[in-house]
Amino acid sequence: MTTPGFDRPGARGRILFVASELYPLAKTGGLADACAALPAALAGLGADIRVMLPGYVSALDTAEDKRCLLQLSEGASLLLGRTPDSGLPVYLLDWPELFRRDGGPYQDNDRRDWPDNLRRFAAFCQVAARLALGGDGQGWQPDIVHAHDWHAGLLPALLALHDGPRPRTVFTIHNLAFQGNFPLDAAHALGLPDPLLGADGAEFYGQFSCLKAGIRYADRLTTVSPTYAREIMTPEYGAGMDGLLRARAGDLVGILNGIDNVLWNPGADANLPAPYDADDLAGKQTAKAAVQHELGLDPDAAGPLVVGVNRLTHQKMADVVLAALPDLLEQGAQVVLHGEGDPELEAAFRAAGAGHGTRLAVRIGYEEKLAHRLHAAADLALTPSRFEPCGLTTMYAMRYGALPVTRPVGGLADTVVDVDDTERTGAAGTGFTFDAPTPAALAGCLRRAGARYREPAAWQRFQRNAMRRDFGWGLSARRYLALYGGLVAPGTAEGAGPVDVAGMVDVEGSGIGVALDTGLEHWPEAAD
Ligand code: ADP
Ligand code: GLC
Repeated sequence: MTTPGFDRPGARGRILFVASELYPLAKTGGLADACAALPAALAGLGADIRVMLPGYVSALDTAEDKRCLLQLSEGASLLLGRTPDSGLPVYLLDWPELFRRDGGPYQDNDRRDWPDNLRRFAAFCQVAARLALGGDGQGWQPDIVHAHDWHAGLLPALLALHDGPRPRTVFTIHNLAFQGNFPLDAAHALGLPDPLLGADGAEFYGQFSCLKAGIRYADRLTTVSPTYAREIMTPEYGAGMDGLLRARAGDLVGILNGIDNVLWNPGADANLPAPYDADDLAGKQTAKAAVQHELGLDPDAAGPLVVGVNRLTHQKMADVVLAALPDLLEQGAQVVLHGEGDPELEAAFRAAGAGHGTRLAVRIGYEEKLAHRLHAAADLALTPSRFEPCGLTTMYAMRYGALPVTRPVGGLADTVVDVDDTERTGAAGTGFTFDAPTPAALAGCLRRAGARYREPAAWQRFQRNAMRRDFGWGLSARRYLALYGGLVAPGTAEGAGPVDVAGMVDVEGSGIGVALDTGLEHWPEAAD
């Protein structure tokens, strides 16, 4: 069977996702959610799709039915397993020295970047390149390689520089702010091909940029909302890459992320005390009472319960939320903040939470189940951003009947309709937006939302609007399939240059080169 959209002769429609996060195997943010839900949606449409992920401890522990496909050198191996529940096939690069560590995917437990991140993700991309070019030894080889964010940015470059037939590549930018920039010397020491090290390659203001490699070399580029696609081609939002992105404008498309409607469904969410939906919101009250009890908040408060579940970072305007807090509490709102991120902001939020007893609860940390309970409990979701590629949290909040208070940037502009802007847009209002990224503008927006909260009939109408909006992957998954289908043309390998991936790995002493050189020797021929 061929995948719908792959209608050219010979195309089997096999797709390999390559990413550094995949829920529930490894997650630090929305990347993990998107890299789990989109393949599941594509598989639902008939695609033969697999995901490749580094073999972090959490991933090795969580993946099911694991078996070893290939032994590489240095004690590394390529495993094939499945995600729990969705049963998505997932390749894990089990390379203990690089990935089996006590800490997160990118940082140690003290939030310091792993010093060898370039080597870790270059090695990951190299093994992915071999899988893409040579198959997995069991007869599976992709027609399309879909790489995500800087961690997989080198992969489209390695494939483009390969001299010979290769799968076509798509690179998705989930966040232009995370660029994977490293000293050029480090890239040189790994033996990366010369064309990659120059300005026409992945050199970026004197550094080596993995993100730039993906943008420069992938056959097609996508990002996670139409508005963000436009924004990143401007100096204001382009993070230094806007010129390159403008040059590739013809290959760049913004496809709005969806959400997993099964995982994020208040009608059947095992994390909630009672199910509810847009027709019967009683369970939402139960969820609110439960959270108020759990966090020691006043159950009889008259104001709205305002919840923020977010990374505590500059992007998410955590500094502005902190500065606006006194004003929000003054207005009579109850506020719950749950997140982790910038250590200074964490400390400041902890201190702010200490003095306000039954009106403010601060939970520093990262708890998936608490996030579900908080969205269910919330009247308003505090999700402001200075920039936002997509913003899954805001969609989760709306699905749970929590109206967002946010800014109309990136994906937020594509998903939130201000309740006072419905005449102009013709769409049903689902939240509240403000323009200036300032405490005063945020507090003003919350005041407007608070006034609406005192009109229960209108409020419930907005809640129902938000809950009934279809944020699923249906349409967007079809767009990706169409994109892949347009790319697949068997036999038209567009090797951009004479550099062979195998030829770049034997740099004595670089670690990655030595390791992969040995690994390559044992790489089986692709089975047809
Ligand atoms: P980003 O990927 O930029 O952080 P998104 O809104 O797209 O933004 O995705 C964030 C994801 O991380 C959501 O699944 C959200 O529920 C989750 N998340 C963020 N902070 C926390 C936290 N402290 N606890 C649990 N989940 C969190
Ligand atoms: C990034 C972005 C976020 C997006 C997520 C998934 O983390 O910051 O806006 O929703 O990726 O694409």
